[in-house]
Amino acid sequence: MKPQLILLGAPGSGKGTQAARLVSELSYNHISTGDLLRSEIKSESELGKKVQGIMNAGKLVDDNTVLELLNANCDLTANAYIFDGFPRNYEQANLLDTEVMKDAKSSAVYFDIDLDKLAARLTNRRTCSGCGEIYNLLSKAPAKEGVCDLCGESLAQRKDDNEETVKTRLQVFKDTIDPVLAYYEESGRLARIDASLAPDVVFAALRDLTEA
Ligand code: AP5
Repeated sequence: MKPQLILLGAPGSGKGTQAARLVSELSYNHISTGDLLRSEIKSESELGKKVQGIMNAGKLVDDNTVLELLNANCDLTANAYIFDGFPRNYEQANLLDTEVMKDAKSSAVYFDIDLDKLAARLTNRRTCSGCGEIYNLLSKAPAKEGVCDLCGESLAQRKDDNEETVKTRLQVFKDTIDPVLAYYEESGRLARIDASLAPDVVFAALRDLTEA
């Protein structure tokens, strides 16, 4: 089996966009802790009610809650996954190895980009409420305003993609990422890609890395 692939990067650096292509073109399974948490909120579960305020404020949900959700939704014995949104801090990086990966091989890719570019990407993001396709009003607008090109469902803006919450999310990222990068670098599992390039170019770099 291919090694498990961990995507590390700031909010808006393009992890979700690239994960969708890695799934459709390279047969990975995608696990996004943000998506799992948002579906808990949508279903109005107890967990959803607990995390809603934290996510709308742009802060991190506690490590054990996210770890439990992650473990309940992946089976590494049979599948190669893309981990999108986990780990976010040094503790989660450790937990991912000891509680989830165990004996599975894994490698990490850091989506390197100047953080000043990301607020515009995030506030202009729209996501299809039907199939999840990701759009951007500046760089990838739908043919018909507010409607998904692929499935015809309506497009929505994420609650945490407003200017104020984006500022907090980027600050949280700045405060937590360095030890995570050091953790993977020290174990020889870190690659970096230039995430400021066009999506097709970023995808080609990722494909090269996964096939190397
Ligand atoms: P999560 O859902 O993980 O969000 P995030 O990490 O903030 O990342 P995003 O989904 O915003 O960005 P992305 O990198 O996927 O970018 P995308 O491809 O969409 O987390 C949300 C919240 O959940 C957290 O704040 C926290 O509260 C909680 N949470 C989640 N995981 C957690 C954890 N492990 N621990 C604790 N709490 C957790 O692209 C963005 C936009 O840019 C799109 O419009 C896209 O079209 C455009 N774009 C993409 N690539 C390019 C490109 N190359 N050029 C130009 N535009 C591009």
